[in-house]
Amino acid sequence: MEISHFLYLWVLFALMFSSVVLATDPYSEALLSLKSEITDDSNSLSDWLLPSEGNPSDKIHACSWSGVKCNENSTVVISLDLSSKNLGGALPGKHFVVFTEIVDLNISDNSFSGNLPVEIFNLTNLRSLDLSRNNFSGKFPGGISSLHNLAVLDAFSNSFSGPLPVEVSQIEKLKILNLAGSYFDGPIPPEYGSFKSLEFIHLAGNFLSGKIPAEIGRLQTVIHMEIGYNSYQGSIPWQLGNMSELQYLDIADANLYGSIPKQLSNLTKLQSLFLFKNHLTGLVPWEFSKIAPLSSLDLSDNQLSGPIPESFGELKNLRLLSLMYNKMNGTVPQAIAKLPSLDTLLIWNNFFSGSLPQDLGRNSKLGWVDVSTNNLVGSIPPDICAGGVLFKLILFSNNFTGSLSPSISNCSSLVRLRIEDNSFSGEIPLKFSHLPDITYVDLSRNKFTGGIPTDIFKASELQYFNISNNPGLGGIIPEKTWSLPLLQNFSASACNLSGNVPPLQSCKSVIVVELQKNSLAGNIPVSISQCEALRKMDLANNKFTGKIPEELASLPDLSFIDLSHNNLSGQIPEKFGDSSSLVVFNVSYNDISGSIPSNDVFRLMGTTAFAGNQKLCGAPLRPCHASMAILGSKGKRKLTWILLLCAGVVMFIVASAWGIFYITRGSKGRWKMVSFSGLPQFTANDILRSFSSTESMEAEPPLSASVCKAVLPTGITVSVKKIEFESKRMKVVTEFVSRMGDARHKNLNRLLGFCYNKQLAYLLFDNLPNGNLAEKINLKRDWAAKYKLVIGIARGLCFLHHDCYPAMPHGDLRLSNILLDENMEPHLAEFGIKSLAEMTNASSPASETGEFTTTLKEELYMDTYKFGEIIMEILTSGRLMNAGVSIQSKPKEMLLREIYDESEAGSSESTREEIKMAIEVALLCTRSRPADRPSMEDALKLLSGFRSQRK
Ligand SMILES: *[C@@H]1O[C@H](CO)[C@@H](O)[C@H](O)[C@H]1NC(C)=O
Ligand SMILES: *[C@@H]1O[C@H](CO)[C@@H](O)[C@H](O)[C@H]1NC(C)=O
Ligand SMILES: *[C@@H]1O[C@H](CO)[C@@H](O)[C@H](O)[C@H]1NC(C)=O
Ligand SMILES: *[C@@H]1O[C@H](CO)[C@@H](O)[C@H](O)[C@H]1NC(C)=O
Ligand SMILES: *[C@@H]1O[C@H](CO)[C@@H](O)[C@H](O)[C@H]1NC(C)=O
Repeated sequence: MEISHFLYLWVLFALMFSSVVLATDPYSEALLSLKSEITDDSNSLSDWLLPSEGNPSDKIHACSWSGVKCNENSTVVISLDLSSKNLGGALPGKHFVVFTEIVDLNISDNSFSGNLPVEIFNLTNLRSLDLSRNNFSGKFPGGISSLHNLAVLDAFSNSFSGPLPVEVSQIEKLKILNLAGSYFDGPIPPEYGSFKSLEFIHLAGNFLSGKIPAEIGRLQTVIHMEIGYNSYQGSIPWQLGNMSELQYLDIADANLYGSIPKQLSNLTKLQSLFLFKNHLTGLVPWEFSKIAPLSSLDLSDNQLSGPIPESFGELKNLRLLSLMYNKMNGTVPQAIAKLPSLDTLLIWNNFFSGSLPQDLGRNSKLGWVDVSTNNLVGSIPPDICAGGVLFKLILFSNNFTGSLSPSISNCSSLVRLRIEDNSFSGEIPLKFSHLPDITYVDLSRNKFTGGIPTDIFKASELQYFNISNNPGLGGIIPEKTWSLPLLQNFSASACNLSGNVPPLQSCKSVIVVELQKNSLAGNIPVSISQCEALRKMDLANNKFTGKIPEELASLPDLSFIDLSHNNLSGQIPEKFGDSSSLVVFNVSYNDISGSIPSNDVFRLMGTTAFAGNQKLCGAPLRPCHASMAILGSKGKRKLTWILLLCAGVVMFIVASAWGIFYITRGSKGRWKMVSFSGLPQFTANDILRSFSSTESMEAEPPLSASVCKAVLPTGITVSVKKIEFESKRMKVVTEFVSRMGDARHKNLNRLLGFCYNKQLAYLLFDNLPNGNLAEKINLKRDWAAKYKLVIGIARGLCFLHHDCYPAMPHGDLRLSNILLDENMEPHLAEFGIKSLAEMTNASSPASETGEFTTTLKEELYMDTYKFGEIIMEILTSGRLMNAGVSIQSKPKEMLLREIYDESEAGSSESTREEIKMAIEVALLCTRSRPADRPSMEDALKLLSGFRSQRK
């Protein structure tokens, strides 16, 4: 090219006279200028220096600098490798123009940002251009087609937006094109079908849309194509079957509909085919059996139907067969058991029936078999573990029968065994001394007999053991069970166990103990106080005697204790009242005596927690002393009366939809009712009847406990919350409550209305049926359910922070203030109550106008922090509580691993990415400097971004 020729001459000229005219050569000078304009936080370019004395030669100084490569006699720079040097800033293009001879330019894995400088496209000798893993943004600039010699263009993982560069298709020598992991949008240009030499094309993880152009099928030199993680329209073009060299095809998670074209079976060199997470329908083409080299076939998470083709027995190289999450049926063909290379068989969540091929495992070394949630019957194939490498065997929720012997009694490679919810019977032949790696065993809901294997204490890696609901099991809890060093969960409810609970000496890691519905007797061991991590203990429906150990009360994380239906006696230890973690406490139907300690913790439990103990008294049961009785009944009567008044008023209000009404009442002034839309209609008679069944209400309950339910005969339940205030504060308080009522959002607990006088207000909230998240945090949820919770909470908070004016901090965000509706959608309760409480007192810092702007920001930051913690609590199903500080210091990989292990379904790459992002947000939100935390708006964007528009 003219220009470059000219440049070259000029460079030569400059070189010749450098000793006279210039202090240095233009290459070195350009690089020094470049260095001075970018950031180099790690001092990676510290050796980019000129010799201190002018020692001119015709050589290029820069040839000895790191990353710079010259020709033999050091007269031209031929390659620049600035990769992974922690460089950043905008990349100034003008310094590149001298490097006309350069062949390789690699600036990958840095933090360069801004537009990609077009001057790079003047380096017409370039054969390889690697920009990957930076943060270049904006439109991909025009002009790249002048790089005639380019064979490699790698722009993976940047932030480019706008359309894919059409021009690259004119580069005839291009072999590798990677534009994945940016924000490119619009369709794949049909021109991309005209590459002449392309071998590798990767466009995954952008915002690409439109139809996949049929022209792509003309790419008969391409070996590897990844275009998934976009959101296309339409179906897979059958023409892709013409890409005869293709070995790797991935169009996963791409919003594809229609059936799988059988023409893909013409891809006779294909080794990997990934079409999971689309909406594909129809049958799995039996013709795929013609693809001899096929080694990985993943069609999971679609709507495919029909059987596994019998012909698949011909796929001698097949290692991975994943058809999970479809609607397939029929029996698993015998031929599958013949496959000599099969190591991973994942067909869970389908409608497969019949029994598994009895020689499964005989012909290949199986590592991971998951056939759970189908309609399979029969016994476990006897040789399933014969290959010696089976580490995950997941058979739950089928109707398998028979014994575990001999198929898995000696399967020493097992790490995870889940066979719950079947009809297995016989003794449990597992020899834990021969299972050195086993971490997870779920045998629950079967028909096992013969007791828990006594050598369970030898399973040194065991974390989770569940044998619950094997009603004929019998036997005892083996003596040394608790000495298992890693045991977290031990569940053996409804197993007809007898005997005592062995002493819990070394149980540091135990979190959940479920032994309800057995015939266990004796005392609850005092040594339980050693189980510092204990969160849930269910001993209900046994024959325990003796006292409730006071030591239980000091366990820091204990949130669930059920001791109901035993023969326990003595008193309820007062110390439980100090527990901040306790959510469920049930001692009903024992022989407990004395008075229920009077503190918030117990008051919240309701009468059902204490019923059936003849000698027990105190709130919420019948009062113990005369004085209490007066207070109690008076309080109750007062509330009933007030609610009656309010409700009576509501009838008027309902007629006029919105409004204010006055009723005179004694010294505390007029009662006034404000109703927000949505308060249900009812009659005076309804009200009368309903309040007689009002559950409980203390005379002067502290703020946090001052909630009661009122069930109306129309079927509507409202939660009532009482707020007291100094009369001077009435205006401020009612104004604020009105603002709370105006805060209407799907993820907030609705305030239906309130009535108040000069000193007292009753707030009527929607009552939600499904309890709160603190009670349900331990439930097993899949990622979709967890995500729903996280995003719902984020939306509610975002509304309070950004859509209310002025912003309304929640102020008391925690699991127990997140209520669940019938769809398990989260609703934030108690929002603003903290601010409200501060206003009730005239001496509080809140000014007369109800402003609290000085602390507003801090409160918002605090909400964000709490939100970060709640993400972690949800992700770990409650294993990591209040983890804000600790997660900041934990290596991210460790967090990730812990959380991926959580769910079987967490194994798909996209799920992992989403979980990773959620953890990232949790880390951002819990940063120690409040100002470093993201706004809720940004947090929500990050969280919802990865769903709808994955990066
Ligand atoms: C540099 O070496 C090449 C051979 O590697 C030779 O062709 C060229 O003439 C040399 N240039 C100079 C300026 O010495
Ligand atoms: C770079 O190339 C463009 C067109 O390809 C040309 O207009 C421009 O002058 C070139 N710049 C340099 C410094 O050679
Ligand atoms: C491609 O597949 C179709 C249908 O499976 C078949 O009719 C056709 O002959 C195949 N083409 C080639 C080139 O193998
Ligand atoms: C599989 O499902 C299809 C459609 O739902 C049904 O017609 C067919 O009978 C089923 N086959 C078996 C073996 O259950
Ligand atoms: C499971 O199989 C057993 C024995 O074949 C049978 O009695 C039982 O009804 C089946 N259960 C279900 C849920 O299909």
